[in-house]
Amino acid sequence: MAKILVVGSMNMDIVTQVERHPVPGETIHGNETRFFIGGKGANQAVAASRSGASVAMAGGLGTDSFGADIRKQLAEDGIDLDYVSEQPAMTGIAVITIDQTGENNIILSAGANGKYGEDEVDTLDLTGFDVILLQNEIAQAVNQRVLEKAAMAHIPVFLNPAPITGFDHTQLNNVSFLILNEVEAEELSGIRIDGISEALQAGKQMLEAGLPHLIITLGSKGSLYLDQAGTQIETPAFSVDAVDTTAAGDTFIGAFVAKYIGGTPLNESLRYATAASALAVSAAGAQSSIPSEDKVHEFLQRVELIN
Ligand code: RIB
Repeated sequence: MAKILVVGSMNMDIVTQVERHPVPGETIHGNETRFFIGGKGANQAVAASRSGASVAMAGGLGTDSFGADIRKQLAEDGIDLDYVSEQPAMTGIAVITIDQTGENNIILSAGANGKYGEDEVDTLDLTGFDVILLQNEIAQAVNQRVLEKAAMAHIPVFLNPAPITGFDHTQLNNVSFLILNEVEAEELSGIRIDGISEALQAGKQMLEAGLPHLIITLGSKGSLYLDQAGTQIETPAFSVDAVDTTAAGDTFIGAFVAKYIGGTPLNESLRYATAASALAVSAAGAQSSIPSEDKVHEFLQRVELIN
């Protein structure tokens, strides 16, 4: 079983359904507003745990009721919370609108995520972890400290540079595995990505810059895996009715890392993660939409019967 440490964000997502996203200066009517537990770090931790990995989470929560709700959910998912600290700030909040096609807009207030500090990274005992997962919703200096500490302990770091705004590119120097979507790949490579062929061009450029392994996810166009050994795997997406794309990428990442580090062959891990994220897109919310391993296997069996 893979043993994974996620150092990252935990948020309360406040989600309103809208017919379309507002334009600047416009007020529109929303439909129902609901609260979901999210945050890229916590979502990836939950996805990995529901796919059979042993997971510990490190990061900051406020002392408010949102923090308590998040702690309760992560504990129910069997995630070790010894490295989750209380911070003198509100728990992180994501204000999300979802339109009729399932596409979202997200505004983040980092709150306690931004208070989790490098000094706390220094107290992490990395012994026994197979891999560390990072995103870009906590302080850049914290990610840098994790990368330095992981390098000293010879533990590979899988990084998801999301959201890409404010991402410190020097982090790429110490990353073993980069998992990013087309928007992030465009930003890092400067290449406009419309499909697999441009993703391939962008990915090759990143490999030339020294990245050992990378996956570019392309939504309904699937994903592309590349590495320094010349392996190239295109994994097609499954066609599903999109209800809410929130946490689909996080689900892919957590599910992939759990399977791949747990010993499942690379191409099977990619197919499994693609199925997990298809299921996440088919349900509302962040962690509420992340499937268990059983559900992913059932989905894959159903798809195989149809084809
Ligand atoms: O990736 C989805 C997540 O992004 C949401 O759960 C929200 O909290 C934001 O961090």
